[in-house]
This record gives sequence, C-alpha cells and structure tokens, in this order.
Amino acid sequence: MTSTSTKLPASATAGKGTMVAFDDVSRVFGAMTALDGLSLTAQPGELLALLGPSGCGKTTALRLLAGFDRPTSGSVLVDGKDVSGVPASKRDMGMVFQSYSLFPTMNAADNVAFGLKVRRRGGSERRTTAVELLELVGLGGHEHKYPHQMSGGQQQRVALARALAIAPRVLLLDEPLSALDAKVREQLREEIRRIQTELGVTTVMVTHDQEEALSMADRVAVMKAGRLEQCAPPADLYDRPASVFVAEFVGTMNHLTAVTQSGGMVRVFDLVVAADGAHRPPDKEVTVLVRPEALVVAPADAGWIVTSSVFRGASTRLRLQRPGERELVADIAAHRTGELPVGATASVALLDRPVLVGS
Ligand SMILES: Nc1ncnc2c1ncn2[C@@H]1O[C@H](COP(=O)(O)OP(=O)(O)OP(=O)(O)O)[C@@H](O)[C@H]1O
Ligand SMILES: [Mg+2]
Repeated sequence: MTSTSTKLPASATAGKGTMVAFDDVSRVFGAMTALDGLSLTAQPGELLALLGPSGCGKTTALRLLAGFDRPTSGSVLVDGKDVSGVPASKRDMGMVFQSYSLFPTMNAADNVAFGLKVRRRGGSERRTTAVELLELVGLGGHEHKYPHQMSGGQQQRVALARALAIAPRVLLLDEPLSALDAKVREQLREEIRRIQTELGVTTVMVTHDQEEALSMADRVAVMKAGRLEQCAPPADLYDRPASVFVAEFVGTMNHLTAVTQSGGMVRVFDLVVAADGAHRPPDKEVTVLVRPEALVVAPADAGWIVTSSVFRGASTRLRLQRPGERELVADIAAHRTGELPVGATASVALLDRPVLVGS
C-alpha cells in the first residue's frame, strides 16, 4: 500500500504477500473427475481468475483452497507449505459466494464483525473494524441495515467487507457478481479490483464470465474438464490463445478457410499472414481463427452482404454473408455505422496480425 492511497483499516491489510498453489491436484467424486492434475500458483497480491464453462471444476478448486474439501491426490500449498492438515477455520481465508449469504437476522455491522466475534475479539474492536470496512466498500452509514433492507449489490458489498474483516491471507470469490444486474456488476468489478489492489490481498476469483475475468484479473487461468488449458495475463490470453478452446472461450472468433504457405504463414483472403499453432506443410487447406476486430470491412461491390448491424456503443457489430462461405462477424467503429447498413455490399480484408490455426 502506498502512502497516497486512502486510509485503510489495519485489520484488512495483514494478508499481504501470501502465495497459494495447487500442486498436481486431482479431486475425484465417484466416477467423476472434477479436477485432473491441476497445477497453478497465485502470486502474492495477485488477482487470479479461474475461468471456464460450467462443471469444469472451478468451485471444486476454490473449496480445496478454503479447506472445505480435500484433494484425492496432490497438494494445496500456502506459502509453499502443504496445508492438507489445516482445517478451514485455521486457514485465514475470506470467502464470498455467488448467492447472498449474509445472516438475515444480523445487521450489516454484525455481519461484518461475525468472524471477529468467533475469534473472541472485544466489542470495541469489532465495532471499529465493521465501521471501517463498511466505509471501505462504500456503505458508510449503513451499519444498522438488515440484509432484507439492502439491494443485491449492497449485500455483496457487505459480504466482501465480512470476508475482509478477519484480515484474510487470501480472498476467495466464487462468482460474487453473477446474481447482480449488468450495471451494478460493472461498478462492483471496479470496486473489488480497487480494494483488492489497495490491500494487496492475494485473491482467487471464480467466474464463467470471460469479460469479468479479462477486466479484473492480473492473470486468468482457463480451465476445461478439470484441467488447466492456459494461464496468462488477459491481453496475452486474448491475443495469443494457446488453443482453439481458449480462443473461443475468451471472445468471438471467425473461422476462415486458409491455405498454408511455407515458413509458418497462411494465405487468407489474398493476404499472407503469420500463423500461430501447429505448423503444417504448404498448400494444405486449414481453418484459421480471426477476431471480429481484425477484419477490415469497406463498402465495395465485392460479394459480401451486410445481413445484420448491431450498435454496441463504441463499435458496431456486423454480420456478413457471401454465397458458399461461412458467415463473418466484424466490428467497425461506431461512426462508420451509416456506411455499412443492412443490405450494403462490402469487401472484407484482414489486418496483418498473426492468426491462430484451428483444424
Ligand atoms: N460433492 C460432489 N459430489 C459429486 N460430484 C461433484 C461434487 N462437487 C462437484 N461435483 C462434480 O464435479 C464437477 C465440477 O464441479 P464444480 O462445481 O467444481 O464446477 P464449476 O466449474 O464450479 O461449475 P459452475 O460454473 O456450474 O459453478 C461437476 O461435474 C460436478 O457435478
Ligand atoms: Mg461453481
């Protein structure tokens, strides 16, 4: 924490600098392998997002970190030490769940101070911490409100304050924003990130929302069927996905037909660009994956027809068709929307960037 940042409760800053890791962790439930040899480290102070489709093992992984469950094999490490024998209550991890999990009969302050009461801290310390933390999450003055008197977003703020009150070494968030509406979700994303950065508390956040993962995390771990597909900073993951699965999961992709050239290049739409992924001998037809913003669309009599145009604020998303070819999705700057209305004919080219070879 720097001296210029807002004053933070000392109670909430003790967690700085903890490293947590999965070392070849598997978790098997009967015939179901929920985690299959997962190795992954969250660095001290980092926000690591676990991203993947439903059922890929995200919650299972988080529960193993929290100590609510134990690996079938492999180990969970905190600052390099195997914590298999350490019960959840002794792991000093704060957790926020998807559904509002506040105690309905306690007001906001008592909810926040609950963990301190369990730890037998005195009344005045509990009150001070609760007031400071509610302030931190933007709920100063709401100490006496009960959960049913607060909105979903406010309840999740209280849940966050409650998780932070015990000065956790690690903060664990399981889809904390998924029950909230879009506007509140975006606001809270920014706030959780601000608080997490200021406190420097190592955080592992589970989500199946790629936008949430990319916008909040220092690094994103993409999981598939209990395995790690790729772990990388958001921009790397988006620009240089390691697999077709990752590419498709972290955004929209066009599938274009291309022909391999020598030297790891491919020809797409008369343009020769570098290709990531498995290199193949020349003159083979392959599919390449291209982001909507990597296509250049212009009004022209070149066979493509705009079939749909959806205004998205800063950009407009077009769909284009040409007989015998797959539909394309392209993003153009919003001020060009009028140039390419539905029914317009267009040319499509490619920005000179590496493309990912699919199959
Ligand atoms: N206690 C359990 N008993 C049996 N199977 C379980 C148990 N917990 C999880 N599983 C199975 O393990 C797999 C992974 O579940 P998990 O809850 O970790 O997925 P997830 O990635 O969090 O999914 P979601 O995005 O839907 O929350 C699923 O197939 C699930 O049915
Ligand atoms: Mg889950």
